[in-house]
Amino acid sequence: MNEVRTAIVTGAGSGIGYATAVKLATSGYRIVAVDIAAEGTERAATAVAEAGSEALPVALDVRDAAAFEAAVRRAEQHFGAAPKLLANIAGVGVAATLTETSREDWDTVLGINLTALFETCRIVLPRMLATGGGCIVNVASVAGVVGVRNRAAYCASKAGVIGLTRSIAVDYAHQGVRANAICPGTVASEWIGKILADAPDPEAARQAMEQRQLDGRMGSPEEVAAGIAFLAGDEARFVNGSAFVMDGGMTAI
Ligand SMILES: NC(=O)c1ccc[n+]([C@@H]2O[C@H](COP(=O)([O-])OP(=O)(O)OC[C@H]3O[C@@H](n4cnc5c(N)ncnc54)[C@H](O)[C@@H]3O)[C@@H](O)[C@H]2O)c1
Repeated sequence: MNEVRTAIVTGAGSGIGYATAVKLATSGYRIVAVDIAAEGTERAATAVAEAGSEALPVALDVRDAAAFEAAVRRAEQHFGAAPKLLANIAGVGVAATLTETSREDWDTVLGINLTALFETCRIVLPRMLATGGGCIVNVASVAGVVGVRNRAAYCASKAGVIGLTRSIAVDYAHQGVRANAICPGTVASEWIGKILADAPDPEAARQAMEQRQLDGRMGSPEEVAAGIAFLAGDEARFVNGSAFVMDGGMTAI
């Protein structure tokens, strides 16, 4: 890709989002690095600069649609162009079955993983349509495809991400927009690192997580970032409305 385009990456402060910001920077994108953690956005911006591109770090809560819209406007002024790629990666999880899930936790998980994603798409999509199209990649999870134990709200939110992504693909394909979801298995991000550190037996918990994948290991943030870059790239121009599973074989059995 010769033309430099702008990509908005949410959750860019750590894990899959951080790796994606860096990967896209090497694929010819300038990056709007969005995260609730200001330190993470700065860290991502530095890594993007080191990768030879430019980033605008933006600290905000993706649930704040007004702040997100203001950030998009600022990015358009800064880079002089509308975004061509939106990678919705920010996400959270709560470990609980349905009966253990409080309404507050439900609202938090659905609010960040699904409603905020609805808003970011609602804000960015018209800009893509006005400039000849664009690409949306939403990070779902295998938890949106199969049931995962002890993750009621998380599973519901990620299944919602897949449904919303498909509806965007169906409604806007004829106007030059592709929308795909990516469904990772267990990925060794900061998030998983915290879950393991908090487990009663971290080593046993790590082994159990590794064994869920046929490959017997977790994926890396960089492997998922490569999948996102593929879905965003021109070589994936025939891929639209997919729920692209990237899980080391976790859902093959
Ligand atoms: N790690 C896995 O095993 C795995 C598997 C499947 C899907 N996913 C999905 O991948 C995405 C990234 O996860 P990760 O593993 O890299 O986790 P992570 O915790 O390392 O990164 C998530 C980032 O999102 C940011 N974030 C959280 N809430 C936010 C909010 N309200 N506003 C703005 N930013 C916010 C965090 O600050 C963090 O930087 C999530 O959507 C997650 O559900 C992860």
